[in-house]
Amino acid sequence: MNDKMSIYLDDNLPTPLYIQLFIQLKNLIAEGVLKPNEKLPPIRKLAQQLGVNTITVVHAYKRLESEGLAYSIVGSGTYVASPTRYEPQLRHQEEDEHLQMMEKGQVQVSENAINLASTTPTPDLFPVDSFKMLINKVLDRDKGQAFGYHQIQGYQPLRESICHYLEKFSINVLTDDVHVISGAQQGIDIISKALIEYGDCVFVESPTYRGALEAFKSRGARIVEIPIQEDGIDLEKLNEMLSAYHPKFIYVMPYFQNPTGYTYSHAKKTQILQVARKHKTFIVEDDSLSELSFAHEQPLPLKALDTHQMVIYIKSFSKIFMPGLRLGFMVVPQALRSRVITAKHTSDISTSGLIQRTFDLYLRENIWEEHIKHMKQKYKKRYETFLQAVKKSFPESVKYKAPGGGLHVWFELPPGYSDQEVYARCLKKGVLITPGSLFYHQAHDTRHFRLSFAAVNSEKIQAGVTTVGEILHQYMEQKGTSAPSSQEYSPLL
Ligand SMILES: Cc1ncc(COP(=O)(O)O)c(C=O)c1O
Repeated sequence: MNDKMSIYLDDNLPTPLYIQLFIQLKNLIAEGVLKPNEKLPPIRKLAQQLGVNTITVVHAYKRLESEGLAYSIVGSGTYVASPTRYEPQLRHQEEDEHLQMMEKGQVQVSENAINLASTTPTPDLFPVDSFKMLINKVLDRDKGQAFGYHQIQGYQPLRESICHYLEKFSINVLTDDVHVISGAQQGIDIISKALIEYGDCVFVESPTYRGALEAFKSRGARIVEIPIQEDGIDLEKLNEMLSAYHPKFIYVMPYFQNPTGYTYSHAKKTQILQVARKHKTFIVEDDSLSELSFAHEQPLPLKALDTHQMVIYIKSFSKIFMPGLRLGFMVVPQALRSRVITAKHTSDISTSGLIQRTFDLYLRENIWEEHIKHMKQKYKKRYETFLQAVKKSFPESVKYKAPGGGLHVWFELPPGYSDQEVYARCLKKGVLITPGSLFYHQAHDTRHFRLSFAAVNSEKIQAGVTTVGEILHQYMEQKGTSAPSSQEYSPLL
């Protein structure tokens, strides 16, 4: 073993030895003790030095490889991967900063930029007047009570209102099945804490929501990506993977999926439930956009079809209400209730009582229905403006499927074109878009990008889409006559 590498494995710990070794090597890489492209010790030698079986080292190295931290050369050995994302010397600093922020789920928007990257509503859509009226009602009615710690699982009257609200979506559950959370991201994190042990496997749609990937990774989950198709997850691949792995759960977004905008067909919904039941695995259903269906009927959640308590339903209000309130809820199978309550307690004890009580009045006084109608109208208008502008400005070779709802559309460039290149060119012209590569766990050379119409008014939608259209036409003309400039960029992980 290299002098600078100090590794200690303890077979009294419940964590498998190969995972212990993997974590310690990963830390040595992160700390810069092991340098990019440095050769790792030969398997047999390291196994001997640590007093473990060679299989332990093989598994640890494989795990490093699967996380993109190492690579192997046949007949030579295993090496530390070079910094994965973007080679700083090849990229402009501004692009780097933007991409790094996006990886952390944020976008930096300068004053004149057009933000087609963010799926967050603009403040002019927030119902400030009704909120003010209801919060005052709560203060007059409940006084100091509103500011105490609340039940971990959530304010009981709100959980009752949520049960009524869910009946409209054909979800019939008990108050005790409902858990109030401080936003869906917390729900994903709580489920990860409650269910994932280091090294457990989790299935996700590919591509998927980055915030979920990060939460699963933070628990040390092994992530298996299952491709998504226009009508839902690829069931053939799902079945194949389920015969090789036993995931703790399958994380899905059945309507207006982030980032593709795809919605599951009814057939796929029933099939995925059957498959999950057969393989005894939970499904985590993340719903942030189901209310925003412009073309079809209100989609039926998977939870409504869940007759065997397989589905954990997570509801976000951020896209249809006010993201800064940090409010959402989950419907959790009874078998997981106490684990989820414990995880919520260690996360933030309880969600703000004042916000819960105010939101309860939205539901009880039927103001919510009006609000959703209003949001839907506004977003539908933006959606139509957006699609018209795309039809007018984009080259025909750039493909997309109109999602019929939600807040974003997923575009596919022809073979040989790079999302990174389009992203960089748009940034130079003051338009922010999201490169598709941000939505994958494994390194992916994608030809996709996501555009959203949530955070921009109609004028900016038209201006932004027109600019992206011009950039695409230019890129295609140039590439038609010269070598692809995408070679300058290495793919995102
Ligand atoms: C699919 C998905 N799930 C969860 C979240 C997080 O939502 P919240 O703001 O409720 O935490 C987002 C936010 O963009 C999302 O797109």
